[in-house]
Amino acid sequence: MDLRQEQINRAVLLLGSGDVVAIPTETVYGLAAAINSKQGIENIFKLKERPFFDPLIVHISDLKQLTSFTKNVSKKELEFATAFWPGPLTIILEKADSLNPMICSGLDTVGVRMPAHPVAREIISKLDIPLAAPSANKFGKTSPTQSKHVHAEWPVNELLVVEGGESNIGIESTVVALKEGSSGYTLEIFRPGFITAEDMEKLAIWDKPLKIIYVESEKSPGHLPYHYQPKKPVVIIESDSNVLDQADLATISQKLEIDVQKYAILDLGLEAATAARELYTNLRLLSEQDIDIIIVFRSSKNSKGLWNSIWDRLNRASSLKINSIV
Ligand code: TXA
Ligand code: MG
Repeated sequence: MDLRQEQINRAVLLLGSGDVVAIPTETVYGLAAAINSKQGIENIFKLKERPFFDPLIVHISDLKQLTSFTKNVSKKELEFATAFWPGPLTIILEKADSLNPMICSGLDTVGVRMPAHPVAREIISKLDIPLAAPSANKFGKTSPTQSKHVHAEWPVNELLVVEGGESNIGIESTVVALKEGSSGYTLEIFRPGFITAEDMEKLAIWDKPLKIIYVESEKSPGHLPYHYQPKKPVVIIESDSNVLDQADLATISQKLEIDVQKYAILDLGLEAATAARELYTNLRLLSEQDIDIIIVFRSSKNSKGLWNSIWDRLNRASSLKINSIV
């Protein structure tokens, strides 16, 4: 048996006995426990130092598993979700009464995702119990896209992190609810992600008018104003020129109340998929440099599609936004 297979089998055993294990997914690594383990679910919150008001996402490997923890799922909801599954889409469904309320923070809904990563899928299907899994980072901090990012927060002897290579999408799933009314469908986007509004809109399944709205809700703390924060403060400068002058630095020092001497610039490049994949790794790498702040220039051009999701994360990761006059 190879090393990876051994790790997968160990993960299945541990999860089956109620332990927490970190697993790779194509978006970010997750801190997983079986949904039927009260202890495991509690331990996720403890390990993450996560407030109980922030609901977890449940991961499945097979549609059949849905019936064990959801109810009244409509044909359209299924049709919609499976258009992107397996993949980086989380759909909000009605929860079954039997599902541990701690997973959903007391809401009557549950977020569900079928990940595409082969290791995640193999673990869930071998266990044959869905896994509740938030991103495997301390609450409010940068999400992990490599196993070593998870080990940076929890040492090897405290947590099994199943190796799955680098997450190739790199930002969290799109969280969305589908509502059907007599006059049409509404998609409520709670958290933008790799699957964009444009991707959802162009599906051939809409047989009535479709409305897409962005919801800022305390039900969806992935949407708290401060989240995903790296170790060094991130400053966003709204500017098309990518030039930083002394006046900008003075403003930043004054607003952040630190004496900014050294900074690094996060260059997002021109390709959104690459920028998403490398975003969290680059924020981590820059944080390790001998600098006071990380600067990102936001040009007025980069705001459509996947860029919108990248900027959602950067806005929440940032401590300050300024307009440059240059
Ligand atoms: O890509 C992902 O979604 C990753 C991987 C591991 O699957 N998971 C992830 O989980 O990002 P987490 O816990 O970091 O983010 C879950 C977010 C919550 O903060 C909340 O915004 C939203 O999903 N969510 C979960 N259940 C919800 C519900 N019932 N209603 C509204 N939003 C919900
Ligand atoms: Mg998270």
